Parts: sequence; C-alpha cells; structure tokens
Amino acid sequence: MKSINLKLKNNPYPIIFSNNDKDLIKSFKSFVPEKKVFVISDSNVAPLYLKKIEGFLKKEKFIVQAYVFKAGEQSKNLKTLSDIYNYALKVGVDRKFTVVALGGGVVGDTAGFFAATYMRGIKLVQVPTSLLAMVDSSVGGKTGVNVEGGKNIAGAFYQPKFVYINTDFLKTLDCQNIKNGMGEIVKYAVTFSKDFYNKLNKIFDKAVVTQKDFDEIVYQCCKFKADIVKRDEKEVSGVRELLNFGHTFAHALETITEYKKFFHGEAVAIGMLFVANLAEKIKFCTEKTKNEIYKIVENAGFCAKLGLKKTDTKKLLELMKKDKKSISKTVRFVLPKQTGKAVFGVEIKDNIILKTIEDFLK
Ligand SMILES: NC(=O)c1ccc[n+]([C@@H]2O[C@H](COP(=O)([O-])OP(=O)(O)OC[C@H]3O[C@@H](n4cnc5c(N)ncnc54)[C@H](O)[C@@H]3O)[C@@H](O)[C@H]2O)c1
Repeated sequence: MKSINLKLKNNPYPIIFSNNDKDLIKSFKSFVPEKKVFVISDSNVAPLYLKKIEGFLKKEKFIVQAYVFKAGEQSKNLKTLSDIYNYALKVGVDRKFTVVALGGGVVGDTAGFFAATYMRGIKLVQVPTSLLAMVDSSVGGKTGVNVEGGKNIAGAFYQPKFVYINTDFLKTLDCQNIKNGMGEIVKYAVTFSKDFYNKLNKIFDKAVVTQKDFDEIVYQCCKFKADIVKRDEKEVSGVRELLNFGHTFAHALETITEYKKFFHGEAVAIGMLFVANLAEKIKFCTEKTKNEIYKIVENAGFCAKLGLKKTDTKKLLELMKKDKKSISKTVRFVLPKQTGKAVFGVEIKDNIILKTIEDFLK
C-alpha cells in the first residue's frame, strides 16, 4: 500500500493506492467509524463491483445502502441528483452516513455534489474506477452536475475523507476510456515534468502498457494533481489553471462538434497540439518543444486530423472566449514554455489566435 497525503489546510486527506482488498476494508474501518455508507454507482460499474464491495463492508458490520444510476454524461444532471436525494431520504440515509462514489468521473462528480449538499453536507469517499477518475477527477474536490446552459455549472468544492485507488478496476475498462485517461496523463507530462515525459514515451514505445506501468503512471499523476490542489485548492491564485492545459481549445472543439466527433481525451490531446502551435507562433516556446509535444501526443495513439472546415475558425474563437475560465476579453491560455514546464494566464490577441487556428486546420 502506498499513499499521498494531500495536505490541505482545512481538509487534509490521503490518496491510498492498493490492489489488495484488505486495505480497502482497513481504510473504511479507520475513516468511517460510524460504519454507515451510501454507495453511489452507475449501471456499468455496479454490476461489476458493487456486490463485492457491499459484501466486504457488510462482513465488517457496516450498514450499506446503494443507489445506481444510468451510466453516461447524460445522467450528470439535476434530475439524477434529485432522484438520489429522494431515494436517500426513503431508505433512511442520515448525517452519520458516508457517501462512497464508486465509478468514473460522472459518478464522482455527481455523488460528490450529493455529499456536499445532502443535509448540508455528509462525509464522502472517492473510489475511482476509470483511468480519468484515477488520475484526475477523484482528487481535488471539484464536484458538480451539468445544467442545460452548460457543463459543471451547479457544483461545489468538496473534499473527500480519502480516495482509494485500485488499478485492478482498469481491467474491465474499454480502450476508448483508457484513451480518455491517457489524454490527461500526457497533459501532466507536458505541463509538469520532462522526466515523466521521457518515462511515458518509453512506456508508449512498448507493445503493451502493463498494470505495473499503470500503477506508476497513476501514482505520479496523482502527485502532480495533489501538489497543484494543495497550492490552489479553490482555483483562486490561478495555479490550478495549469491543469487546464489544452482544455480551452478542447472545450471549443467538443462544442463545435456537438460532443459527437471526439472523446474528451482526444479533444484534450488536440488542444495540447493547438497550444503548442500557438506558443511557437508567438515565440513563447521553440519549434523543438512543439515537436516534442507532437511526439508524445502521437506516441500515445492520438491522431491530429481534425476534419473541420475553414469556416469553423471564427466559431472556435468565439467559443474559447465564452469558456468560463476566460475572465477578460482576450482569451487566457496555459502555454508550454518547455516540455514539462507550462505557464498559466497568458493572454493572446484574437488575430493571433485566428491565424493559429487557420494554420492548424489546414
Ligand atoms: N471533478 C473533476 O476535477 C473532474 C476532472 C476531470 C473530469 N471530470 C468529469 O469527469 C467526467 C468524465 O469521467 P470519466 O471519463 O470517468 O467518465 P464516466 O464516469 O462516464 O466513465 C466512462 C465510462 O466508463 C465506465 N466505467 C468506469 N469505470 C469502469 C470500469 N472499471 N470498468 C468498466 N467500465 C467502467 C462508466 O460506466 C462509463 O460508461 C466528466 O463528467 C468530467 O466533467 C471531473
């Protein structure tokens, strides 16, 4: 068992890494002494893992209630949340219960927001089962659901009591969702560490990524994330923006293609290539850095072909301006300075963005 302590001032907590179920039980026994849990999961994850986890906990005399909703981003909404509140009330979930988010980022965000708001807040544990949730969404306390007007609009910062990561869950995750997580993993390398960049490239050069590789990768990414969250828990100082490397373009791309053409990880990968081009254009980074970013993105199996029309250029810019992370009239980007070192809050003028998009779409 390994762990990382996320040393937040008010809510410090460990991220526990173990593939041994005994550690899962041990963690629950020490962090949930009330022995009452409300597991929230989705229709893909629950049939695979809910019974097993329920069984472990019941054996230790835990009272277990569970709620399962339909898998997918479409469920991350206020209706699902309302259904969970009502179900929880019906089965007697009280303030002594701890919510367990068992699933990917959709479950983590929804269950997290439920925990933050049910009876003014009850305890939360994150048990991520997708690669993206392991390396990103389960750590850092961002919770929330989508509303018609936009993604993650109703939400709260709400930290869990602990995060439990077991990479065995990845054995049942499909390739597309592995790739989604890979987009974020490459992001960490390009943003934070040349050493990790080199290590990842070596891993990608092999025929298969082994479970041991995943163990190392997931641990390393959680370290990067924990470090940033510790420095800027509620995205106040701006440091947390670094985690959005490639995301401003990615969100615009996802919106313009109505979330039908690219998976999030792919959009992030393309977004990283875009900012590499932007940074090179304004001489913020060298051509070598741009090429290094291309190398790892392609090595990870992403394709840089967009298939968009020239007429989409202006629309992409408009969408980037609307991105909720833009606080001024010019768009702020996280740009690569070198491989493994990015800078946040770089404001770029519209004409430069437009020219870069045009060249990028060629
Ligand atoms: N809170 C944050 O900081 C943060 C950060 C990044 C992303 N997110 C959010 O995370 C969500 C995306 O997360 P995601 O990619 O995990 O999506 P997801 O939760 O929809 O999971 C992807 C798919 O994999 C399935 N799945 C999960 N684990 C599985 C397993 N072990 N075996 C088989 N199937 C499994 C799910 O049922 C789902 O069909 C988005 O809503 C995004 O906004 C949040």
